Order: sequence, then C-alpha cells, then structure tokens
Amino acid sequence: MRVLGNAPDWSESMSLPPHDVLNLDLAAAGARRIAWADQHMPVLASIRQRFEREKPLAGQRLAACLHVTTETANLMRTLVAGGAEVRLCASNPLSTQDDVAAALVAAHGIPTFAVKGEDNARYYRHIRACLEFSPTITMDDGADLVTSLLFVARGELDGVHPEIRAFAEALGPAGRESLIAGVIGSTEETTTGVIRLRAMERDSVLRFPVIAVNDSDTKHLFDNRYGTGQSTMDGIIRATNLLISGLTVVVAGYGWCGRGVAMRAHGLGARVVVTEIDPVKALEAAMDGWQVMPMVEAARIGDVIVTVTGNTRVLTPAHAPLFKNGAVLCNSGHFDVEIDIPGLRALAVDRWEARPFVEALKLADGRVIHLLAEGRLVNLAAAEGHPAVVMDMSFANQAMAAEHLVQRAGSLRPQVFRLPEELDKGIAALKLETMGRSIDVLTAEQEAYLASWREGT
Ligand code: NAI
Repeated sequence: MRVLGNAPDWSESMSLPPHDVLNLDLAAAGARRIAWADQHMPVLASIRQRFEREKPLAGQRLAACLHVTTETANLMRTLVAGGAEVRLCASNPLSTQDDVAAALVAAHGIPTFAVKGEDNARYYRHIRACLEFSPTITMDDGADLVTSLLFVARGELDGVHPEIRAFAEALGPAGRESLIAGVIGSTEETTTGVIRLRAMERDSVLRFPVIAVNDSDTKHLFDNRYGTGQSTMDGIIRATNLLISGLTVVVAGYGWCGRGVAMRAHGLGARVVVTEIDPVKALEAAMDGWQVMPMVEAARIGDVIVTVTGNTRVLTPAHAPLFKNGAVLCNSGHFDVEIDIPGLRALAVDRWEARPFVEALKLADGRVIHLLAEGRLVNLAAAEGHPAVVMDMSFANQAMAAEHLVQRAGSLRPQVFRLPEELDKGIAALKLETMGRSIDVLTAEQEAYLASWREGT
C-alpha cells in the first residue's frame, strides 16, 4: 500500500529542508491526513491549479506563522505551486499537529518550525527562523510575526523575547532596515491580529500594507461562526467526554465566534447563557433566545464556561468563589489571557491532570474546577481546529491576498485593507459551485429597478 498518497516523498529524492519538528517518522501519517483535508478544500485546490500554471508568486519569499494543521499544509502547497519559497512556523505553542509538521518537511519539502507543546524560547526561535528568511510577504494568525518584525526594525528591543533581541542585534541597524524594506505586504488571519494591526496603523508604525483576511465575508461569517462553533464544542467534548445535553454553557463574548459556540452548544442540548460588554451584541443574544447576564451571575450557574472575547482577564480569581463544583473553564479566543490561569492556580490547594488537556484545581473550600488546554484555544489544542470545508474559504482568501499583494506591490499604502469585494464574492461563488448549489441572477429589469429612485408606490 502506498502510504503517502499522491504526496511526493521529498526525503527519498533530495536533502531535507531546514526544519525543527518533533519526529520525521510521523510524516506518512501526516501526509495521509493532509490529503484527506485536501479532498474537502476544492476552492483552494482550484486556486492551486491556476497558481501552477500562472506562478503569480514567483520570486517571493513568504514567511507564514499559522496553526500547523492539515489545512495550513494545503495552503502552503498552494503558495509553493504559485512559485513562492515558503517557510512556516507555529502561531501557537499548543496547536501544532506534529504529524503534519513532519509531512510538510519530509513529504512536501517545506521548511517548517513547529512542535506541539514548545516552550516560549522555542516558539520565538521558530519566529526567528522565519525572519532570518528575509521574507517579502508575511502571513500571520495573531500578528506575532509582524509585531516581532516591527520591534526588530524599530530597534525597540527592551520588552522583546531574548531570541528576537539577539537576532536584531546580530543584524545591526542597516540589516534591520533592509529586512523591513524588503517586505511588500502582509496578511492576517484572525480578529485579534487585525485588532493589533489596526493599533499599529493608528500609531503610524506600520511600514507595509496588510490584508485583513478576517474581514472578508467568506472568512469571518463561516470560519469564526461555524468553524469555531463546531470545533470548540469538539475540543470540550474530546477533552472531557462530558454530555453537553442538560448542562448550562456560558459563552463570554457574542461576536462571530461566540454566536457559533452558542448555536452549537444549544444544538447539543445545553442551556446557553451569554455575557457581553456591548449592548447591541447583548441585545442580539437576548433576541436569539439566550439568557444574558454579567459574568458574576453567570459564573455561579455555568457547568462549562467558554471565553471567546479576544479580550483579557474575563475570568479571574475574583470569580473563583462563585464557580460551581466541577465547573469546566476553557477559552477559544486567540491568546491565553482570557482566563487568568496563574491567578486561579495560585488559589489552588492541590492541582493535578485529571485527563489529557484537563487540569483540576482544588480550592480551599473543597470545590474542584477544571481548566482545559492551559487556557489556549481549546478547539486547536484539544481537537483539530476547524474542519477543512470551512478553512477552504479562509485559505482561498489567504492565497488570493498574497497574489493581490504581489499584483499591487508598491501601490498600496501602509494600512490595513480588506480583500476587494469582487474577490470575496468570487470565493463564495466558487464554494457554492463546489457544493452543487446554484442561485438566481438579476434580470436587467431588476438591476435597473435597484439602481433607480424614481419608482415608488
Ligand atoms: P468579535 O470582535 O466578533 O467578538 C468578540 C466579542 O467579545 C465582542 O462582541 C465584544 O463586545 C465581546 N467582548 C469583549 N470583551 C468582553 C468581555 N470582557 N466580556 C464579554 N464580552 C466581551 O471577535 P470574534 O471574531 O468572535 O473573535 C473572538 C476571538 O476568537 C478573537 O481572539 C479571535 O482572534 C479568536 N478566534 C479564534 C478562532 C479559533 O479557532 N479558536 C477562530 C477565529 C477567531
């Protein structure tokens, strides 16, 4: 039986590219899973076929800092097909799929730097490996690559990780300037990254254009809602094996991700409670049928509490006296700051691993609370992240954004943009087509009617 499917076995024919992965023996298993995901990513596959013919990324060095999953592997294959030289590092220490990282190196010849459970020093060593590549395009999920690049370029090295500091010092001022001057643009995958990048734009420190892939309709309406909704519940269930039916699930944050989590928790039979700070979102949650209350009330009744706010310290030691015995706390927002884990751990009289990805904390009064996946994105740490079907659209946006940056190199200002609407709609049309769905088209009469103001009652 062929174990690598249609993936070329890079290691047999050539020397391996630079890498830091857990174990190359996992490559065959990873390659099979990458091929499985590929079957569910027809839009990306069609872009890959076009890229193979047209090579729109020829001559580009593309450094990507993304969750190292099967879907990301197919995006990397697409960028390589487009003619780019690619380097990949992890955007989160716990989300890497080690078999995929191995397959990227040994079956696809793509330099990959990612190990599940890597510590902070290794995480930043991997970011450094991507910066050393002198990228012309960067691709981020959370903006860690761009942030590191800007700190290096600006020589602002006081707060940065020693690994990045050493890199910047070795470059010297001229090397730092030439590193940043070589970047034609960047793309950003997630809400939190876009928020950081807009703050950079406001502070006038952004040096190149960024395409906020998250802002495409074919990204956040589907990935954040249906992807995070399903995979967050998947992560909670895989970690705990709880029956969700009959439980009270508290969802903190009713943005695109929160809506999805609430919808899917309800679908599994949970009573859903939403906490918010935005009155419009709170109203929407109330009219969608969920209970809405502040966290100080929700924390008393939640069997499972999920944070998806993109904010910091949503659950803190102040909530500890309120939690039910056995409560499960987890986060699906980008950074691990939504639950104050050090603060909660400091209150524990005992703590132990109850199951993989489940840390039990015993409080002084005897109650036990459970923290999932060290407060990191539970859907990626304890499950596999979003299904390929939905990442198909997110990563079609990423591939098109890279192509757009090359086409418009030098003409875009150092601002945060969204992908042009016609490209976004084009991805939706292609996705519908691959799903075998067709829609109506406007008649000439309807088009004229919509464009006119003269017709009324
Ligand atoms: P969003 O901006 O649409 O929603 C966030 C919501 O949280 C807003 O409605 C805001 O009012 C609310 N909020 C802020 N502070 C709050 C607080 N203290 N208490 C209660 N609510 C609060 O953002 P979106 O797209 O839903 O993303 C949320 C987070 O999830 C971000 O960090 C994003 O990067 C991340 N994300 C994670 C994914 C995953 O795979 N787990 C996928 C996509 C996004």
